[in-house]
Amino acid sequence: MLTQTLPLRHVSEFAADVREGLTKSGQRELPSKYLYDEVGSALFEAICVLPEYGLTRADARLLEKHAREIVRRLPSPVHVAELGSGSGKKTRWILEALSRRQKTYYFPIEISPSALAACEKELGQIDLVSIVGHEQPYLEGLRTVADRRADGDHLLVLFLGSTIGNFDRDAGEEFLRSVRNILQRGDALLLGTDLEKSADVQMLAYDDPAGVTAAFNMNLLARINRELRGDFDLACFRHEARWNATERRMEMHLRSTCRQRVEIPAAGLRVSLDEEETIWTESSHKYRIREAAEMGERTGFRCEGQWVDEEWPFAQNLLIAE
Ligand code: AVI
Repeated sequence: MLTQTLPLRHVSEFAADVREGLTKSGQRELPSKYLYDEVGSALFEAICVLPEYGLTRADARLLEKHAREIVRRLPSPVHVAELGSGSGKKTRWILEALSRRQKTYYFPIEISPSALAACEKELGQIDLVSIVGHEQPYLEGLRTVADRRADGDHLLVLFLGSTIGNFDRDAGEEFLRSVRNILQRGDALLLGTDLEKSADVQMLAYDDPAGVTAAFNMNLLARINRELRGDFDLACFRHEARWNATERRMEMHLRSTCRQRVEIPAAGLRVSLDEEETIWTESSHKYRIREAAEMGERTGFRCEGQWVDEEWPFAQNLLIAE
């Protein structure tokens, strides 16, 4: 498990994070946010339509079914800021319901310009809805939107798809607290949370038989090869999904199938991996139904409503800033 770091004056944030994660003592790690380059984002879109991965369909079904009711419980007038625009498809239900009662601004906040463009294309034609994209990190973008709002206007923040689950539990709660601190009393947060289900169902969702999730995970090594001139041999790694029952989360790992040395020149790094050693690439925390409401209550919100999908345990939680 030899690791050698070479001196580097200027490293990109990506290189610095790769270097930090791969030199951790004990379990090596890579931050999950780097799964989403252009290839990774396309693979994630494919995951969302896999029969084994019901999360995205449940999220969308709930919005389609309950958008009117959700909108009825919001203050007026309200504009919408979405953390991570995705393709924008699910958001249509909320925007259409809102546009029946008011002219609405929609602010997708997203660091990927291509995702923002796709979202503008998808949602650009709804009557009485104006889209203003913000190419910024979530909290920075939300602060910009909140600072520019007119007096008396409220905000509805969308944080869908159980993206909260990709944070550690403490970090997720800290994130909700930061969102709350940017908001005003009466503003709303619609938070999607994937609920705990049987281990078998969860395992299949993160280790599908077609191997799409495996490709999504493996692409992280390919990305390091492409962008940091790494020499990972992908044939010497295997995708692994694990249900961690103690932490109630799915984990993705990349398991080294032999003893090997890897060089990543742009991160100034040489790493020796043991046979069977893993690199931990993602956590997807799963929740109990009361948990989202409790997290909201601990971070300055009250829970105004919860809607649970009948096919795939998943909840939309409407939290109002107190
Ligand atoms: C984006 N995020 C909520 C997905 C999840 O389920 O944690 C990412 C994903 N990872 C593997 N499959 C999907």
